[in-house]
Amino acid sequence: MQSPINLWGKRLVLGVTGSIAAYKAVGLLRVLAREGAAVSVIMTQAATKFVTPLTFEVLSGRRVATDLFESHEEMAHLALSEQAHAIIVAPATANFMAKAALGLAGDLLSTMLLNARCPVIVAPAMDGDMWTHPTVVQHVQALRARGVVVLDPEVGPLASGQIAQGRLPAESRILDAVHASLISQRDWQGQRVLVSAGPTQEPIDPVRFISNRSSGKMGYAIAEAARDRGAEVILVTGPSALTPPPRVTTVPVNTASEMSDALNRHFPTATILIMAAAVADFRPKMTAGQKLKKQGKPELVLELEATPDILAMLSARRTSQIVIGFAAETEQVLSHAKDKLRGKGLDLIIANDVSRAGGGFGSDDNAVVILSASGEQKVLGLMPKRRLADEILTAVQELCLFPPRRESFVE
Ligand code: C5P
Repeated sequence: MQSPINLWGKRLVLGVTGSIAAYKAVGLLRVLAREGAAVSVIMTQAATKFVTPLTFEVLSGRRVATDLFESHEEMAHLALSEQAHAIIVAPATANFMAKAALGLAGDLLSTMLLNARCPVIVAPAMDGDMWTHPTVVQHVQALRARGVVVLDPEVGPLASGQIAQGRLPAESRILDAVHASLISQRDWQGQRVLVSAGPTQEPIDPVRFISNRSSGKMGYAIAEAARDRGAEVILVTGPSALTPPPRVTTVPVNTASEMSDALNRHFPTATILIMAAAVADFRPKMTAGQKLKKQGKPELVLELEATPDILAMLSARRTSQIVIGFAAETEQVLSHAKDKLRGKGLDLIIANDVSRAGGGFGSDDNAVVILSASGEQKVLGLMPKRRLADEILTAVQELCLFPPRRESFVE
């Protein structure tokens, strides 16, 4: 049965391998695109003998990658698998499944699979004798044991003239499998997640302010990841150049005080607070009503006062909410983070060394260490912030003890 959810906002990779059924992947691409998915097609060299990359390129509106060594652009295609919500290989040949089962990475599609962390759906098509060959049976078993969804091919007339099991599964079955795998990721359904992101701006006068280098990328990535996993998300964001994520309630604020008001309003109905904002610690004690004039002054002394610690305040007011903070540090990262975890009464703190090259403020990547109130520690190495966001959500599940709600796949 076809699931009611559509694929709006989903990033999919469609791998096409060298079977006569490759032409059917064109129809599949159209259906996936019609449901709103952004589909990137990867073809093996053999697949290009059956259908031209141009066909897929026109229908997907994206360049089709075929060769691991063609150009440096292929590296960008490898990143696709990191960002994909699902990878679908249709049709999948016996040769492809053997490579995937053994972890061989001699071509782009196989390499992508090794890189993937999302659900993988394989729709085989081959001759009947090949499908029942013990080697193929073994490879299918190995892939299934690893969590890959390998659909059974259908019985019918094959290119060889044989009537046997080997036909590419019907489009509707492949689509159902895609839906099912995406639904099974909706393990945050029922959660109401309040996320803060970005810097705050504390006005000195009508044209000047004190702020920091936060881009908002980490908080936005967490909001998107929670949304994609089925949570209702409210994102309270300081000034950021990023586009508000679709299907997330975004509340823009400027100052720490405005951020505090917005978070206070939404906190009572939230189940989880993830405080990724870089709230200014100090603000000018007085904000000038008019632009301050130089008037030949050799110096200007600004008197600052501490902003309220929003996180500590909310944590103290919590009823049943899980409360998570960030600690952006430049030295003694773990010991400072532990102090904040205790001091602010948090369930988890996500510590990152913002002085480290390749991560931190403004970067697309980040590496963090997650510390829990009960003393567990989880190290997450340098990776794209969107993927890190998913890892953080999974760690929140594991460490804060609400068991992942996974629905099993039903073919
Ligand atoms: O104490 P520090 O600013 O390093 O703590 C960082 C954590 O506390 C972050 O989660 C940040 O969003 C939060 N914070 C806050 N209110 C402040 C300062 C920081 O909620 N005034």
